[in-house]
Amino acid sequence: MASTTTPTRSPRAARRLQAIPPTIFTEMSALAVRTGALNLGQGFPDVDGPAAVVEKAVEALRAGRNQYAPGPGVPELRRAIAAHQARPYGIDLDPEREVLVTAGATEAIAAAILALVDPGDEVVLLEPFYDSYTACIEMAGGVRRPVTLRAPDFRVDVDALRAAVTERTKLLLVNTPHNPTGAVLTRDELEAIATVAVEHDLVVVTDEVYEHLVYDGRTHVPLCTFPGMAERTISISSAGKTFSFTGWKVGWATGPNELVSTVMSAKQWLTFTNAAPLQPAIAHALDHEHHFYEELAAELQGKRDVLCEGLSALDVDVHVPEATYFVTTDVRRYGWSDATEFCFALPERAGVVAIPSQVFYDDAEEGRHKVRWAFCKETATIEEGLRRLQAADLHA
Ligand SMILES: Cc1ncc(COP(=O)(O)O)c(C=O)c1O
Repeated sequence: MASTTTPTRSPRAARRLQAIPPTIFTEMSALAVRTGALNLGQGFPDVDGPAAVVEKAVEALRAGRNQYAPGPGVPELRRAIAAHQARPYGIDLDPEREVLVTAGATEAIAAAILALVDPGDEVVLLEPFYDSYTACIEMAGGVRRPVTLRAPDFRVDVDALRAAVTERTKLLLVNTPHNPTGAVLTRDELEAIATVAVEHDLVVVTDEVYEHLVYDGRTHVPLCTFPGMAERTISISSAGKTFSFTGWKVGWATGPNELVSTVMSAKQWLTFTNAAPLQPAIAHALDHEHHFYEELAAELQGKRDVLCEGLSALDVDVHVPEATYFVTTDVRRYGWSDATEFCFALPERAGVVAIPSQVFYDDAEEGRHKVRWAFCKETATIEEGLRRLQAADLHA
């Protein structure tokens, strides 16, 4: 029996939950605690976001903003989200009708899928996938149709995308910048996706939570800005990644009123509303703290380089990411036929935790040898992790 409350599947659980693989993160983080290992697995920063934003939250708590916020979110945050979409991207949104605040991007994803997917409907999505996608599609009774981003470049195979769309396809679920590969979809790739979506009259959900954590001068382009896409796209993002407040769980969905209202029809029965005193603080952050995420991206790029160079020196194949918190490596050179075994051995052998990427794939062969490492940590932590790896015997 589990010694603490973990998402264990008991025989009493509903059948649709039996089909959802348990999240690896709880297990790996527990392993990190038990072995005293450094956690380079889970993607949360170890430094908080701007102090001024925390102060705004404290002010809101003291000012009595402690009761239910309006279901779509507090007006100042909806206005700030609309302004944020207008400023860098030129997207024109009505904050009253086209912006919905959610309990993190996670709730926006869940509500969008529950609101749009009927049992038997197919969802085309990029593989490897962020794990909540598979869980939500299962809970909705949908069928996933993966389009695999293959190593070493993790680019979109447009022919595979076309082949994945059938008359049962209800939704296209796109994630860019992409977790776990770190790929930023190019204009050409986005254009190809937009063409397929328009041709088949599909609704598109785009998860853009890493929109500001992009490196080497690249830029993120929202899919809803391509011709024919504004009217069919639900764009999702989150203050968690942009402002390093992952624990606040403040996210949002934006798009045409018809689609945002549809997402809200499911969201109202999930949380209805959340984080009332944190919402005005995030409004302040969006309005005044853009330099924070610009500096964060520059810092993370440096940390990415430290981790990638350190891992390359260890002689594992490193796929340098264009964005996000994560690096993927291939551990075959150390003789491991299965990266899950490698990751379970790593805390004892080296005092480091990493995530086996296989959990993000349906195509077990494509995922089998890959490991995901997070660099959203203090540089000293990354360096200590690398020292431990250097000192350990990593061979199978
Ligand atoms: C691709 C992706 N989408 C969504 C989320 C969840 O965002 P939030 O913490 O705002 O729910 C994450 C978090 O790791 C993520 O990587």
